[in-house]
Amino acid sequence: MKNMIERPTPAHVAIIMDGNGRWAQKRHLPRIMGHRAGVQTVESIVRTASNKGISFLSLYAFSSENWRRPKEEVSALISLFRLYFKSKAEELKENDVRIRFAGRRHPFPSDLIDIMDQAEETTLSCKKMQLILCLNYGGRQEIMDALQRIILEAAAGKELNISEDTFRDYLYLPDVPDPDLIIRTSGELRLSNFWLWQSSYSEFYFSDILWPDFNEEEFSRAIESYTQRNRRYGTV
Ligand code: FPP
Repeated sequence: MKNMIERPTPAHVAIIMDGNGRWAQKRHLPRIMGHRAGVQTVESIVRTASNKGISFLSLYAFSSENWRRPKEEVSALISLFRLYFKSKAEELKENDVRIRFAGRRHPFPSDLIDIMDQAEETTLSCKKMQLILCLNYGGRQEIMDALQRIILEAAAGKELNISEDTFRDYLYLPDVPDPDLIIRTSGELRLSNFWLWQSSYSEFYFSDILWPDFNEEEFSRAIESYTQRNRRYGTV
């Protein structure tokens, strides 16, 4: 029976890491302490995903809308990104994990952009897993950026044949397969402008656990739930 067959491990797992602020508030701590605790979870989930044979792990770390947060929170997040990418690139390389970014680099500070470029460069040849950090990422913005490039190419006289497949070539990471599974933590039930184009046939898993408390066990539960599903892609 078709729906009794266990699906293989998802190739691409995408996570909306939500609930850092509430985790901190519950402990009467400043919100940034929640983000700091969230970095520990990032480290543990990167390890777990790689051990499980997942080929692509994408993490929504800063949306194009997150600039609207208080200035102090934005700069604290930027400092965490600096610290993480600078200190972890070598370790990721040793673990054969390639780091990539999706989103607009501008208006991040130039030293952070250099660190991001360096982390990508250091881990370029790693093959076990791709860790994709969505930073200053917005799904609508990604589609608009693609459209802008198409318009520029058309205006320059390039002959274009735009289909769903060729449109993909203008997205931020055209070679990365669509997410098979999108996990969102903290009990919120929305996509929040994440992987808009790519999520058309993704499976969803919503967890009530706040991101800093998310762990290997809950991650395994999400994967297990995915493996039991019957994906039909519009067929019967
Ligand atoms: C959403 O929780 C979380 C973010 C906007 C930031 C995510 C950042 C991290 C997990 C840490 C840095 C990551 C890396 C890769 C170094 P929220 O603040 O909206 O939580 P709330 O909804 O409870 O307020």
